[in-house]
Amino acid sequence: MSEHFLVTGGNRLEGEVLVGGAKNSVLKLMAAALLAEGTTVVTNCPDILDVPLMADVLRGLGCEVELEDSEVRITTPAEPKYHADFDAVKQFRASVCVLGPLVARCRRAVVALPGGDAIGSRPLDMHQSGLRLLGARSEIEHGCVVAEADDLHGANIRLVFPSVGATENILMAAVLARGETVIDNAAREPEIVDLCNMLNEMGAKVSGGGSSTLTIQGVRKLEPATHRVIGDRIVAATWGVAASMTRGDVRVRGVNHKHLGLVLDKLRTAGAEVTPEVDGFRVIQRERPKAVNFATLPYPGFPTDLQPMAIGLAAVAEGTSMITENVFESRFRFVEEMIRLGADARTDGHHAVIRGVPVLSSAPVWSSDIRAGAGLVLAGLVADGTTEVHDIFHIDRGYPRFVENLRGLGGVIERVGTE
Ligand code: UD1
Repeated sequence: MSEHFLVTGGNRLEGEVLVGGAKNSVLKLMAAALLAEGTTVVTNCPDILDVPLMADVLRGLGCEVELEDSEVRITTPAEPKYHADFDAVKQFRASVCVLGPLVARCRRAVVALPGGDAIGSRPLDMHQSGLRLLGARSEIEHGCVVAEADDLHGANIRLVFPSVGATENILMAAVLARGETVIDNAAREPEIVDLCNMLNEMGAKVSGGGSSTLTIQGVRKLEPATHRVIGDRIVAATWGVAASMTRGDVRVRGVNHKHLGLVLDKLRTAGAEVTPEVDGFRVIQRERPKAVNFATLPYPGFPTDLQPMAIGLAAVAEGTSMITENVFESRFRFVEEMIRLGADARTDGHHAVIRGVPVLSSAPVWSSDIRAGAGLVLAGLVADGTTEVHDIFHIDRGYPRFVENLRGLGGVIERVGTE
């Protein structure tokens, strides 16, 4: 049986919502536990499907993993296995982040390639070329990315694009390499800083986290640590955009508002009053949102993961918005679903032009990935009637207690089974 959401539009969102740990951080922190023998504890873990899936990947590598409430305890053996097979990794791409730690710990890694993705092709060439510069051989063999190294040594690595995943894999391999590694044009996302902090708590010597240049002095051994995951800025911003779209008043807690500087500025441009708070921010939108242009870019640019929500906002804004997607080539596929909801949107290559309409019109729609799914639910909140959002397992992979949180803000949403 699969499930779908019924979202009834027309309500203003009001109240407070607490966000959990960042999905895009917790999975890498769990992988980092492979780097030290013993028990690593990660706290503030979000209650999303990808966390138990990652736990299964680590169990397959010989770790013991206990999940309780928002805490995960990972006990890594002296000699982890080095082969993450297809059954373990097929359900989510982030599992590829075990590659770097395995090369560092076992000097050999075989990680099955998770396959295609709705948002565009996601090659691993930068991950591989970085590992090669550290002294590993790396090939794609029989559907797996294989990396082997007799000796990992420091290197100067310049990424052609600040890829989040490549930065993380190279960083996690370099912490146990001999000598100094410099990663130039590194990704600067807050989740990278979180990983650098945890690695340093484990005894690594990483500096420059949050800048474009990471410098790593390799050490011989890391020790387990206990680390709290940063709040999920994408989930937080999803609620912020929802507040703006529904002309609501929402206080979001559990996140560092500085991680959302540009996003909150865009909400201000749309006419929202945005107040930074110690543990989050508040968004109040009194009038119909105004059109805003967005161009996705690596951090600190506008996050590609919020592009579907930005399109939702543009769809009901006063005026015409131009949205440019610079990170994932096929991420506009979901715009077809927005058109089904009555959005006046056209795409051409990596540009979308959206002329806002006062209200969308409910329809059955299908989520193609986590963020597209959330964008469609937001659109359902400003559509007349009841929108059916299908393939919601995507949303469950990234948004903890989605229905409860949305209802807590006054949204009308129901989860129903489909035979
Ligand atoms: C991560 C996030 C994802 C977010 C993305 C960009 C996780 C689990 N996922 O994905 O939610 O949307 O960052 O902020 O953290 N690329 C290559 N070769 C490579 C690696 C990447 O060409 O070796 C390209 C990709 O195809 C894409 C771009 O670089 O077009 C950005 O990808 P990347 O930053 O690596 O994203 P992920 O780490 O996969």
